[in-house]
Amino acid sequence: MKISVIGCGYVGLVTAACFSDFGHDVFCMDNQEEKIKKLNEGIIPIYEENLDQLLNKNLKEDKLIFSLVNGDIIEKSEAIFIAVGTPMDINGDTDLTILYDCIQDIKVHLKKGRKKTLIIKSTIPVGTCENIKSMLNDNQDYEIDVVSNPEFLREGSAIKDFMNPDRIVIGTDNQRSIKLLKTIYKKQIDLGHKVIFTNIKSAEIAKYASNSFLAMKVSFINEISDLCETTGADIDEVRNVIGSDKRIGDKFLEPGPGYGGSCFPKDLSSLVNIAKSYGNRIEIIEQVIESNDYRKVKLANRIISKLNLNEISNVTVLGVSFKAGTDDVRDSPAIPIIQQLIRKDINLVVHDPMALTNFSKLYPNINTALDLYDAVRGADILVILTEWSIYRKIDISKLAKLMKGNKIFDFRNIYSREKIIIHGFEYECLGR
Ligand code: UDX
Repeated sequence: MKISVIGCGYVGLVTAACFSDFGHDVFCMDNQEEKIKKLNEGIIPIYEENLDQLLNKNLKEDKLIFSLVNGDIIEKSEAIFIAVGTPMDINGDTDLTILYDCIQDIKVHLKKGRKKTLIIKSTIPVGTCENIKSMLNDNQDYEIDVVSNPEFLREGSAIKDFMNPDRIVIGTDNQRSIKLLKTIYKKQIDLGHKVIFTNIKSAEIAKYASNSFLAMKVSFINEISDLCETTGADIDEVRNVIGSDKRIGDKFLEPGPGYGGSCFPKDLSSLVNIAKSYGNRIEIIEQVIESNDYRKVKLANRIISKLNLNEISNVTVLGVSFKAGTDDVRDSPAIPIIQQLIRKDINLVVHDPMALTNFSKLYPNINTALDLYDAVRGADILVILTEWSIYRKIDISKLAKLMKGNKIFDFRNIYSREKIIIHGFEYECLGR
């Protein structure tokens, strides 16, 4: 089947790569000429595990072509997936400008009498698909159906998540579109993956509800870990008990510096504002947002309280990506923590195995170190903010020799206290 994917970001590139690997002929389009040129040379602007190989394999097999948005491709595409960004605006609402501009770009290329299906993968407020439908069908020259097909891809495991989804959600009430989507997703359906056909509005809301619930679990375990700390309980023991209840599940119960990334913060804010626009309030998610925002202040204060105010402390931060496995620093909890630290009189060095380039674009004046042991050399205080495996495997005795001071803040609980304190470290972690 001939498929278009518009938007060459995390979601669009993974969608295009996987669909072309399923055997579809995929045209992946964007409005940035330079990005398209590089993509056709096999150079991708983001890191995502195995994406490079998958894209280049299908480029070589002519199953995948990158192009600027153009009429011929839209004309010959049986399905058009939209995966453009829907960022948060300054009021915390979803900014749909890019999406609506993309719809206008498509509209000019639609031919009389044509039937087309637009499938929206971008995360969009409830009711947006209906708006798009009326934007496109205002003169009845053609029949355009708009389907909500939210993605549930995690950065760092997006291809795995696409190929092995817990569920594929298709929001439409149009029988032709249902038939079309069954054909597009045939490979996964034949492999037995769950497909949920629902109405458009339910699919739109389900995406926000899913992310909000996951983020709520993270904030919940963070607050429980704080209670464990003050009461002398152990968060790992508590996690084991609650996670053994199948109704709770043992995932998303790792305490940390707070959730981040390009999705959770924006989706929770959007959900709260969407609810308010309909006269509802989702107070529990309002509290989750507040709790998550305050957590970064709280953890920064724990570090600041241990600074030696008589001299300039050397502080090394390990990890700025919002989680391990990605180079993405968008809304990373490390950023506000670092912002509070640099207000104090300290020498700061930052390390991250993948995200330093993106971090230094935002903070060119902050010292970074490419080598882990260079980063820790002479440090009085070490702060772990991302759970990279390179940090789990660090040589603790070498670390003890290289550091000047002995304070470690492990805000991802990647070490065991016993293995750390035998080297003379003062070790602080979460909930233990
Ligand atoms: C998320 C959703 O998981 C995915 O389904 C959706 O499509 C996009 O948003 P992603 O943003 O890539 O994916 O990150 P995720 O792996 O969900 O983690 C989000 C944040 O929560 C990260 O900052 C992570 O460090 C944090 N987290 C996650 C925890 O602090 N503890 C946990 O146990 C799990």
